Amino acid sequence: MRLGLFDSGIGGFTILKKVIELCPNNSFIYLADTARLPYGVKTTNEIKKIAEEISYWFSYQNIDAFLVACNTTNAIALDVLKKNLDVPVFDLIGSAASTIQESRVGVLATPSTVKTKAYTNAILEFKPNTYVIEQPCPEFVPMIEMNNVNSDEITEVATRYLQPLLKQKIHSLILGCSHYPLITPLLTEILPSSVKLIDPAEALALNLKLFMDLKTNNYSKKKNLVDLKFYVTSNLKNFPNKANHWLNVFPEVNLVSLQKKGWVS
Ligand code: DGL
Repeated sequence: MRLGLFDSGIGGFTILKKVIELCPNNSFIYLADTARLPYGVKTTNEIKKIAEEISYWFSYQNIDAFLVACNTTNAIALDVLKKNLDVPVFDLIGSAASTIQESRVGVLATPSTVKTKAYTNAILEFKPNTYVIEQPCPEFVPMIEMNNVNSDEITEVATRYLQPLLKQKIHSLILGCSHYPLITPLLTEILPSSVKLIDPAEALALNLKLFMDLKTNNYSKKKNLVDLKFYVTSNLKNFPNKANHWLNVFPEVNLVSLQKKGWVS
């Protein structure tokens, strides 16, 4: 299958990785809207416009399914993506919310995601008595994009973000921005071992696998036949190094303009 996914930058790598682990024999088209990173401090109207442009571009890429690898767009503009794409759309927030077992849940997310309370609302739909506390983390994405993931500075920031959640005695913590699993080692160091970390990419990948098993019915035994194509909206030079660092691939990366009309696949 040909799968499309997007993020503002490298956050979607965490979804790509989980999906490749579970569903290896597929082609992936990864779009990083680097020109407009970070998404997490943008307004609802800005994110909706971005979602329109991204879904329009993907509608010309001949994909079989679409993975929303960005929580901010998931929280604000899932309806826009679903309306414009005539393929199945797999999302992070709904997928993760349906798997929550704990009664006290923390969520780390971008300020724009937290404003929507999308995680709280989705969890309460499945488990109405859950206590959910959401923490906006504006400093994380720029630091992670700069590979500043192992410094006193980010440790201090993470400790500050986690403090209110730990005060509320959370049992689990949802990484509600796709960039955050890239700092799992740091978060694990700060959190007590009793707090379970939840990466929504796992639930998304599982839903996708269930769908594919039903759809294809001929699961290939051959492993690791992964075809990856990357597109960025700026910073063509830096992206291959980032992909190499986090995914251990050195892909060809193409520059696209999402405002251009008349795409060819
Ligand atoms: N990684 C995206 C998310 O899951 C966007 C982060 C950003 O660009 O601020 O929210």
